Amino acid sequence: MEKTFAIIKPDAFAAGSAGKILARIYAEGFKVVGLKKLYLSKVEAEGFYAVHSERPFFGELTDFMSSGPCVVMALEADNAISKWRDLMGATNPAEAADGTLRKEFGSNIGENATHGSDAPETAAFELGYFFNGLELL
Ligand code: RTP
Ligand code: MG
Repeated sequence: MEKTFAIIKPDAFAAGSAGKILARIYAEGFKVVGLKKLYLSKVEAEGFYAVHSERPFFGELTDFMSSGPCVVMALEADNAISKWRDLMGATNPAEAADGTLRKEFGSNIGENATHGSDAPETAAFELGYFFNGLELL
C-alpha cells in the first residue's frame, strides 16, 4: 500500500463540495488515514509550494491557497499517488476528463479544487509538512 497527500483546496471547501469529494474518495477505494481542516497562512502556503517559487503563478497560487480554509488528507491505496492524480484529472479543469474531480468541481487552472502529490519524494515531503506520525496511525 502507498500513501499520498491530498488537499481539498479553498475554492472547493468554500463551495461546500468537501463532502461530495470525500464520498468519491471512499467510493474509489482509498483509505483516509489522515484528515484535518486548516486555514493556511501565506507563509505556510509558500513553504508548501516552494518547488514552484520561481514560477510566474507563485504569488497567485499562494494567495489562493491562503484565501480560506482547506482540508488536508493522507490517502492510502495501491498506487495511491497515480490513482489520486487520475481521479483529480488534468490541472486545467477545462482539459480534465469527464468523471474527474477537477472537471466536476474546478473553475479554472488556478482554482482547480484539489491537490495531489506527483511522486513518492513529494508525497513524503507533503505528508510530513502537515502530519506527524501519530496522526497517521
Ligand atoms: P497540484 O500540485 O496542485 O496537485 O497541481 P498539479 O500538479 O496538477 O499542477 P502544478 O503544475 O504542480 O501546479 C500547482 C498548482 O498551481 C496552480 N497553477 N496555476 N495560472 C497558472 O498557469 C497555473 N498553473 C498552475 C494550480 O492551482 C495548480 O494546481
Ligand atoms: Mg503539482
